[in-house]
Amino acid sequence: MRILVTGLKGQVSHSLREIAATQNVELIQIGRPQIDLADPASVEPAVLAAAPDIVVSAAAYTAVDRAEVEPELADLVNHRGARAMAAAARRANAPIIHLSTDYVFSGAKRAPYVEEDEPDPANVYGRSKLAGELAVAAENPNHAILRCAWIYSPFGQNFVEAMLRLARDRQVVRVVADQWGNPTSAFDIAAGIITISQNLLASGDAGQRGVFHMSGGGEANWAGLAQALFRISAAHGGPSAEVQPITTAEYPTRARRPANSRLSCTRLAQRHGVVLPQWLESLHPVVLRLLETRNHDR
Ligand SMILES: NC(=O)c1ccc[n+]([C@@H]2O[C@H](COP(=O)([O-])OP(=O)(O)OC[C@H]3O[C@@H](n4cnc5c(N)ncnc54)[C@H](OP(=O)(O)O)[C@@H]3O)[C@@H](O)[C@H]2O)c1
Repeated sequence: MRILVTGLKGQVSHSLREIAATQNVELIQIGRPQIDLADPASVEPAVLAAAPDIVVSAAAYTAVDRAEVEPELADLVNHRGARAMAAAARRANAPIIHLSTDYVFSGAKRAPYVEEDEPDPANVYGRSKLAGELAVAAENPNHAILRCAWIYSPFGQNFVEAMLRLARDRQVVRVVADQWGNPTSAFDIAAGIITISQNLLASGDAGQRGVFHMSGGGEANWAGLAQALFRISAAHGGPSAEVQPITTAEYPTRARRPANSRLSCTRLAQRHGVVLPQWLESLHPVVLRLLETRNHDR
């Protein structure tokens, strides 16, 4: 199986590279300048030249707060760039797996979101990703759109890495405790993507196409996630800090964030047989890897 994934240093694309290397999967990673989603015309020639069996559209404009001041760029990359990816995959006669986000929801619901819930994003990033979902679905019927959430990994910038970095010079960190979601390891997403790719290539089952929620098992708020990662770090001689739980109102950000973006992943389990591990289980190896690779003194 020959998978084309967009993005070179992104958390999911980097993790997919590692997981693919352990399986019988040929992975072609393409990023800028060959594919620049801000220049949708760059997409098709690169996709056709790669001749993939399947396309994984993992690259995106992911700066949630900055998107509030660059809405055009966020839309160009996450909406029009995503559409170009789906169209190019169709021309290459390949299914597309497109990554989207829990932030397509406002957070007003009290229970975990299901795929039938109406999206109503609370910020520019969420709106650009929702527009991308709709464009992908319209361009290429052979698609699986995976709404992921709260991704962490040993690569790039993410909450887990940021907390370990902060704890190097602070004894106390203030962390929001009233936003709830499903922390998700990028390695688990990558492994799931490989299974879903195999399924899409093996059968034309319409039930395996469409939108799927894909996040780690269990739920947390950001303060709880911070406490858990510091416990793991401290147990291995790494940095840790006391977590002071605060409210969203005490930590103003440019972009509004959903108070609840927990996702129900039942559809993914039923139709693709993919169930991601509990987030706490997957957090452990990622924290250890960050301690090894990022010089977090221990
Ligand atoms: N991070 C999260 O917590 C989260 C949560 C829910 C959903 N998601 C979604 O999951 C997917 C993967 O997220 P991630 O955390 O792996 O992202 P990430 O680590 O922020 O990486 C983003 C990737 O997109 C690439 N990229 C950005 N602008 C581009 C452009 N104009 N043209 C081509 N490539 C561009 C980056 O390129 P370089 O390699 O050159 O840096 C990088 O590889 C995204 O669709 C994101 O919206 C993320």
